[in-house]
Amino acid sequence: MDTTSSTVFISGATSGLGLALAQRLQAAGSTVVIGGRRQDRLDALAAEHGFGTVVIDVADAESVHAAGADVVARYPALDTVVTMSGIMRNEDLRSPDHTADALETVQTNLVGTIHLIDAFLPHLLTRPAATLITVSSGLAFVPLAATPTYNATKAAVHSYTQALRQQLVGSSVEVLELAPPAVQTDLMSGADFGGMPLDAFTDEVMALLDAGAAPEILVQNVQPLRWAERDGTHQQILEAMASREH
Ligand SMILES: NC(=O)c1ccc[n+]([C@@H]2O[C@H](COP(=O)([O-])OP(=O)(O)OC[C@H]3O[C@@H](n4cnc5c(N)ncnc54)[C@H](OP(=O)(O)O)[C@@H]3O)[C@@H](O)[C@H]2O)c1
Repeated sequence: MDTTSSTVFISGATSGLGLALAQRLQAAGSTVVIGGRRQDRLDALAAEHGFGTVVIDVADAESVHAAGADVVARYPALDTVVTMSGIMRNEDLRSPDHTADALETVQTNLVGTIHLIDAFLPHLLTRPAATLITVSSGLAFVPLAATPTYNATKAAVHSYTQALRQQLVGSSVEVLELAPPAVQTDLMSGADFGGMPLDAFTDEVMALLDAGAAPEILVQNVQPLRWAERDGTHQQILEAMASREH
């Protein structure tokens, strides 16, 4: 993607990685539309930064399709979509009490990604060149024991993205996957899980996008997780991450 002249929709940009990326892309020269459930945050961010906004709940198919139609109608030059919306919950699998969190996580992270692609891909395919960026995680590749359904949804997003990319070979749509490492955001209600600073992460992501990195956007800190299976370090990293939780 050309970070200086794209028209970008980021679902899940009322905070964290999505908001940071929105700010960087706008500063680089792109037109940016942000989405999320919190109308008050959207209004404040529109006033502060001049973003376009749309209310969207990715867990609700009707909301996603309404938001998609609205964004495409207002921004017909839209050529880039980032499926950033996501939640992450601790779950104790020894108690069935975790089921509600598990279902909400699947509905937001996986089904939400599917809804977003369904809502925006037909438009992106009409553009001469377009980019769809899904968001997985380093935890797609080595699970964090405390967040089992989260890890599973991100592994699913990784797999879904690969299949989508293959289906779109020869089309105008490039499919990228952003797989972040731990980054300091509100994701676990601001809990400190040793994440890297948001600014440093966003610097690296913008440099990778500008360098044309594809098909995965992998900053340095995520490399050990991404390649753990290949490197024979998977079990060692899984156990090390689990022991840090206690
Ligand atoms: N931070 C990390 O360490 C890390 C690592 C790997 C991957 N990631 C991924 O990066 C993405 C962004 O996370 P973050 O760290 O920036 O956390 P964050 O600050 O909590 O941001 C999450 C964003 O998702 C939106 N969202 C949540 N549920 C939604 C829903 N049902 N519909 C629409 N939007 C929804 C939130 O907006 P509203 O609340 O306004 O809806 C918010 O803008 C997530 O997919 C996360 O899994 C993060």
